[in-house]
Amino acid sequence: MGQMCPRCGSTYRAPGVASLERRRCVADGARLVDDLRGSLVGGRYLVDRLIGQGGLGSTIWSAVRSSSGERFAIKVLATARAEDVGRFERGTRLAMSLEHPCITRVMDYGSTADGALYQVMELLEGRTLYAHLGESACAPDEAMNIVDQILAALEVAHAQHVIHRDIKPSNVFVLREPHERTSIKVLDFGLAKLDPDAAAAEQLALVNEITQQQKICGTPEYMAPEQIVGAELDVRTDLYSVGVLAYRLLTGRLPFSNAVRHELYQAHLMTPPPPFDAALGLPRALETVVMKSLAKRPEDRFASAAELRTELFAVGAAEMKRIEHAVALFGARAAAGATIEMEAPAFDAGHAEPPVQVVVEPTPVASVAPRARPLRRWLWAACVLVGLGGATWVLADNLRDDGEQTPRAALEPAP
Ligand SMILES: Nc1ncnc2c1ncn2[C@@H]1O[C@H](COP(=O)(O)OP(=O)(O)OP(=O)(O)O)[C@@H](O)[C@H]1O
Ligand SMILES: [Mg+2]
Repeated sequence: MGQMCPRCGSTYRAPGVASLERRRCVADGARLVDDLRGSLVGGRYLVDRLIGQGGLGSTIWSAVRSSSGERFAIKVLATARAEDVGRFERGTRLAMSLEHPCITRVMDYGSTADGALYQVMELLEGRTLYAHLGESACAPDEAMNIVDQILAALEVAHAQHVIHRDIKPSNVFVLREPHERTSIKVLDFGLAKLDPDAAAAEQLALVNEITQQQKICGTPEYMAPEQIVGAELDVRTDLYSVGVLAYRLLTGRLPFSNAVRHELYQAHLMTPPPPFDAALGLPRALETVVMKSLAKRPEDRFASAAELRTELFAVGAAEMKRIEHAVALFGARAAAGATIEMEAPAFDAGHAEPPVQVVVEPTPVASVAPRARPLRRWLWAACVLVGLGGATWVLADNLRDDGEQTPRAALEPAP
């Protein structure tokens, strides 16, 4: 089999006596991958195009099933160590058992003639959340919507004792759909155990052992403290990673982003996350929820994805109340040019929201500063959250063909 450059598409004959240079593209220096185009993976998937490359040498291809003409995405893991095979098969079988609109469907797996492992998935149109975000933050409504969908996916997986272990933006896919609301799917359930970096981290039993810089590969910015020290993982491990993701989406920054690996690990283990920048105007109650997800000890976090969703829903509902209040006052005093001070609803007594200042201009078109944008966005966010539980359930229900019902209570926000 020949090789190809994933960047420029140049093709190379199969290396005979391979030299190191041979494994990089002469045009752009990118590492070459085995060129699977035209091959029939598993005897039934005809590969036609390279879609992407993973951080650990995996490649993703688009392929057509010869019997039906249906299109799929095939993830091929570059190297399969003998001890990975069993894990991969178990992980993939678990992934195949998960059904939810926010979880990428996995329908087949196997190994190629060369012994590489592959997984067949639904082919998604769009881009990863990593690419979607770029350097920026999300509007609060979009952040809440994305986090809620990830948590909905985790609720279903956790109910089947599947922990993802690698929630990060490149494992969340933002679908290209003609809907106003962003829809996502979580990728790579069941595969995180194969990450050699995570496996290495799991072997680090003591904090003292991580004082030497590790080989830089993978994304440790989303790893929970218990992953770093090799302690037991549970559903709360995923909730920590969701906390990092929520922090990143809302603020545009990671809570910890030290360039040196062992300093990054130590920050996850010891350093409280920096508070949100006040200039962002995000509700204090939302910050409290995110910070609780980022607690160092799993027992100080939310106990479940459902609990975290409920708290986020409460924040959205409280914001909606604040906005309704503002709108009522605004309507009454539109002509007055007044500055309206609003009390926070008694949602979280320990972290009461500072009064919101709504500056009402004497003209019919009000300029609301400085929190006008967040307020308007929160109105939308709250509406999204109110509708989301029901919508997710209805969608999940429609997609299920085995008649099995997801417990309604698990997907609906708390009253
Ligand atoms: N089911 C899919 N449909 C369409 N594109 C996909 C699918 N799965 C993955 N991709 C694309 O392939 C790229 C590589 O995916 P992969 O999961 O291997 O990368 P990663 O998450 O960066 O790395 P890793 O999972 O190895 O840590 C992704 O960026 C994504 O764009
Ligand atoms: Mg991935």
